[in-house]
Amino acid sequence: MKRVLSGIQPSGKITLGNYIGALKNFVTLQDDYTCNFMVVDLHAITVSQDPADLREQSEAVAALFVAAGIDPNKANVYMQSHVRQHSQLGWILTTLTSMGELERMTQFKDKAAGKESVGAGLFVYPALMAADILIYNADLVPVGEDQKQHLELTRDLAGRFNHRFGEYFTIPEPYIPKVGARIMSLDDASNKMSKSNPNAGSAIYLLDSPADIRKKISRATTDSGREVKFDPANKPEVSNLITIYSQCSGLSVAEVEQRYEGQMYGPFKKDLAEVVVGTLEPIQQRYREIRESGEIRDILRQGAERASEMAEKTLRDVQNVMGFLPE
Ligand code: TYM
Repeated sequence: MKRVLSGIQPSGKITLGNYIGALKNFVTLQDDYTCNFMVVDLHAITVSQDPADLREQSEAVAALFVAAGIDPNKANVYMQSHVRQHSQLGWILTTLTSMGELERMTQFKDKAAGKESVGAGLFVYPALMAADILIYNADLVPVGEDQKQHLELTRDLAGRFNHRFGEYFTIPEPYIPKVGARIMSLDDASNKMSKSNPNAGSAIYLLDSPADIRKKISRATTDSGREVKFDPANKPEVSNLITIYSQCSGLSVAEVEQRYEGQMYGPFKKDLAEVVVGTLEPIQQRYREIRESGEIRDILRQGAERASEMAEKTLRDVQNVMGFLPE
């Protein structure tokens, strides 16, 4: 079976953007691939994290994976830090990565912009991400559009390694959804919806109450004009809401447009709020059950055990072809 790997950071509450761009696709892929889905705590600490928050968010994100529909008997769900081989291959790949490549990463540039001091971890972050993927020889990596450049670097690093040490790594393909790969902020459609935006009204979080979801959607910025029309260049805000509607309802963008033809923004936004509530409520219900049952630690332990077996084999092969002495 072909292999899938992806991860989500436990830094802040996960958003509807994370769900539509990534998590929802994890669930779809689990039936046809050997899947590894991680909570990437090692990546989260590339910016400062409060220890209590990190612990809570790590468990919350893992529980949301399962609540969203990932079956831990089909897919491995685990913490990145529990599979230590990621860090080890991460270091090895750092030595194959040039400063220039890392300097060109737009995520690094965005996160470092205006900061007086930037941690080296934030800079070498993409090499660890490449290790996450290559350690399982993943074929497919479901991500949102903002991770595309990191995926390209991963492909380059795999090719570079293969060129120097002999064909070993699979060159992974990104799996980026055609619709919903970049959900935008509710307050400003020129920014992506993000966990780290300090304005809570800019994002819908997966654990938001129905009342909060309704409030946020009713306050979402809309373009001037009144037509519910998908036109990202001229109507970015409404187009973003149509995308969310489409992804949460299963209707195509054209079907959503058709349904609201001749209607104004008001009824459209009201229905959208119900569609989003209807998508998130069952996830929230399962989330509460999973947290209460205390089962998540066992799921994570089992997932890490299975993933470590695959990862250890790759690490040994890599160390061997590079000339490391066996332990
Ligand atoms: P992270 O935690 O920022 O985001 C998790 C996933 O959600 C997607 N995403 C979005 N998709 C659509 N619209 C949005 N507004 C939106 N915001 C986020 C992201 O593209 C991502 O797929 N570096 C990664 C985590 C990572 C990883 C990996 C991913 C670490 N190792 C290996 C894949 C494979 C990150 O920070 O994602």
